[in-house]
Amino acid sequence: MKTTVLGTGYVGLVSGACLAELGHQVICLDVLPEKIEGLKQGVIPIYESGLDELVKRNVNAGRLVFTTSYAEAIPGAELISVAVGTPSADDGSVDMRYMWSAAHEIAKHLTGYAVIADKSTVPVGTAEKVEQIIREESGVFCDVVSNPEFLREGHAVFDFLQPSRIVIGSAEPRATEVMLRAYEHLDCPKYVMDRRSAELTKYAANAFLATKISFINEMAALSEELGADVTQVAAGIGSDPRIGKDFLRAGLGWGGSCFPKDVRAIRYMGEQAGLPLPIINAAFEMNALARRRVVDRLEKVMGGLEGKRISLLGLAFKGNTDDTRESAAVDLIRLFLEKGAQVRAHDPVASVSSQDIGGYALEHVDCPYEASRGAHAVVVATEWEQFRTLDLNKLKDMAEGDILLDARNLFDPLRATEIGWKHVSIGR
Ligand SMILES: NC(=O)c1ccc[n+]([C@@H]2O[C@H](COP(=O)([O-])OP(=O)(O)OC[C@H]3O[C@@H](n4cnc5c(N)ncnc54)[C@H](O)[C@@H]3O)[C@@H](O)[C@H]2O)c1
Repeated sequence: MKTTVLGTGYVGLVSGACLAELGHQVICLDVLPEKIEGLKQGVIPIYESGLDELVKRNVNAGRLVFTTSYAEAIPGAELISVAVGTPSADDGSVDMRYMWSAAHEIAKHLTGYAVIADKSTVPVGTAEKVEQIIREESGVFCDVVSNPEFLREGHAVFDFLQPSRIVIGSAEPRATEVMLRAYEHLDCPKYVMDRRSAELTKYAANAFLATKISFINEMAALSEELGADVTQVAAGIGSDPRIGKDFLRAGLGWGGSCFPKDVRAIRYMGEQAGLPLPIINAAFEMNALARRRVVDRLEKVMGGLEGKRISLLGLAFKGNTDDTRESAAVDLIRLFLEKGAQVRAHDPVASVSSQDIGGYALEHVDCPYEASRGAHAVVVATEWEQFRTLDLNKLKDMAEGDILLDARNLFDPLRATEIGWKHVSIGR
């Protein structure tokens, strides 16, 4: 199938490469010329396991090409997937400028029937609006479907090719048929539903997962007060299939490019509908509290942060990605710096600019041990797998102080204490 993917970010590039892997003829378009130039030279702009080889293989097989030209990408495509960014606007609504701009560009260049699939996470009602724009401006008949994406950064290629489910929100059987054909080689449940339900499904999924994390963080706070261990509580409840063991790791709360903006968006949709969403609001409140509690605890155990040297391990919002958007680690850095501490940071792949942390300068160091040289406290903020196996003796030798704030519960408290660390973890 001739397919075009608009946007070559985490979702667009992975979708384009995977659709090519499934045998489709794919054109990936982005508005950033430098990104497309790099991709043409084989430079993958994001860190995503397996993506490099997948792109190379499909480019070499002639199934995957990159362009900035809508005139090249739109005419003749049977399926046009839109995977442009949909960030938060200041008021918590969704900034839809990239989506509308893509819709206008499609309309300018559409020459015959195509199915346009909204892969971006967009407010309920968007598919209808995009369809109206394209039909009216192009004068060409098309169908717009909602096809939300559920991939996880860090596992994106695996998730696309082995999805738990595919959701297709469609108003027309003809469009549904195109979508089912595009995904015919993917063996998973395919839920065909109306477009509004499909759009809400994506927000409901992310809001539910965020709430689950906030819940376990609330249990972590309670565990600390009552002398329980939240990791044991999580194991005890997670083995119940009605609860499930995933997303029960207490820590710094949720962040990243999706959960915060999507939970804000669903809250905004509720407000617009005149419907307060108390569970969603509570999830937010607990998330902010999870970060504040960690800073408060460090401040307490160190007797203030003014002039203290802190080594911060992990910048990405979770392990296995270079994405630092709304990362809890970045929030911590900002709070530490505001309180007068000096921070040296290490992440295996991610970095942050001074703009991300309120204009402060941050020293990035290539090695976790080096980052900890002379530190009064070491804070582990991202659950990178390689941090689990850090040599805590060596880390202790490098540090000047003895405080290890294990904000992702990666280390055995007993072992860390035996080595001489004052081990502070979450909910234990
Ligand atoms: N990142 C994730 O894990 C994830 C998972 C599921 C869903 N989503 C959703 O998918 C969408 C894309 O997310 P992302 O993380 O890939 O974003 P991203 O910011 O990484 O990439 C978006 C890309 O779209 C390009 N773009 C902007 N306007 C364009 C236009 N008019 N035409 C073509 N390209 C354009 C940008 O230059 C950028 O390269 C968002 O709605 C997001 O909520 C993301």
